[in-house]
Amino acid sequence: MKNISNRTSIAKKLFSWLGPKNLICMEDKDAHNLRTRILPLIKGKGLKSLNNILLKNLPSLYETLNGEVQIKPAISKFTLDNISLGIFGIEISTTDVGKEMMVLLDYCFKTSQTWFLYPVPPYWNAEYRKFKRCSKRLRELSIEFVNMRLKSFMEDDETRCDFLYDLLTSKNDDGSRRFSNEEIANNTVTFMLGSFDTTSTYVSSCLHRLSLNLDIQKKLQNELDNDEEFVTKQDFNKLTYLEACIYETFRLHVHNQVSKVTNEDIEIEGLFIPKGAVIYAGSFGISGNPEVFEDPWRFNPDRFVDYDWIGEKRYTILPHGLGKRSCPGEDLSYKFLKTLLANICKKFHVEALDDKVIMDSRTELPVLRLKLVHR
Ligand code: HEM
Repeated sequence: MKNISNRTSIAKKLFSWLGPKNLICMEDKDAHNLRTRILPLIKGKGLKSLNNILLKNLPSLYETLNGEVQIKPAISKFTLDNISLGIFGIEISTTDVGKEMMVLLDYCFKTSQTWFLYPVPPYWNAEYRKFKRCSKRLRELSIEFVNMRLKSFMEDDETRCDFLYDLLTSKNDDGSRRFSNEEIANNTVTFMLGSFDTTSTYVSSCLHRLSLNLDIQKKLQNELDNDEEFVTKQDFNKLTYLEACIYETFRLHVHNQVSKVTNEDIEIEGLFIPKGAVIYAGSFGISGNPEVFEDPWRFNPDRFVDYDWIGEKRYTILPHGLGKRSCPGEDLSYKFLKTLLANICKKFHVEALDDKVIMDSRTELPVLRLKLVHR
């Protein structure tokens, strides 16, 4: 539709702090150019290694999950540390530059939405000025990080297996580098942001649903149980119920909205929508519609076992968006979700702690706490 365009103007308000060359904020034409160059690397050695990294470090996650836990922060810390390992090649929380980057990323990500509703940047607000300083520092550090890697490049050689290495070594036909330092710095942080919070949010939501539906949890564990210690990607094809649990979590938890912006005034069935309005595709209008999914509020993964994804049914859930700006990490995200969910559920019995709701002092939202007990 020519009177509706992609979400760049909203993205710029929310994520320009990631730097001018970050994919999320680019206009479609520039985004197409960058995506064409970067998408092959998502299947490259660096990001591919990430799944093995998650798997290898699972025992440290198990330690933090044992007992009563705030599930989202616990999973987030693990995904952030390990995804940064796959992206930058180091466990970021073990270096000073990395530690500072993580604190800044967390702060900027959490506070960036606060400024969204201001029609002009509120420079009079001290907290906003702090946000600007922190985001500037984050960009400087990520550039510093890329430069550090470039300097030590000869020693690194082929032993490296991370996204940053793939980006730095990617060449055009004439031998020149395919990505500039700024593109690399802005997009390593962007990809980290795009992957760690989404993954941990959906893992936490799924575990919560399983804690409230013990029969479903048991059915999933029956599928996962065997003599092996870990579930690996070689098992994924067989794990149809695990996949169904993920789809059902996507259906019920619409954390990422597909958003567009109007290019001109539009009238739809008498409803006036002004130019520049942000339109959210209310995908729960489909995934929560009783004509599409029977008894839509019930968590029932069975509805996705042998689900026929043909025709309109392909669009009944849209967790990764749609079209030319849809999520480039879609395939990878399924691998992360499967690795984490399968192994946590194989190891632990997950119980709800609904009677002990506590509130987050900053967001004033309830904190999701679960009790995980070794099986
Ligand atoms: C459960 C996991 C994930 C979910 C639900 C998710 C969802 C989404 C959604 C809804 C969008 C916006 C699509 C649109 O506007 O149409 C998006 C964009 C994006 N995602 Fe993901 N994502 C996930 C994991 C990942 C991973 C693992 C990566 C990186 C490897 C990633 C990187 C990105 C990037 C860079 C964009 C911006 C694309 C652009 O503007 O062209 N995401 N994601």
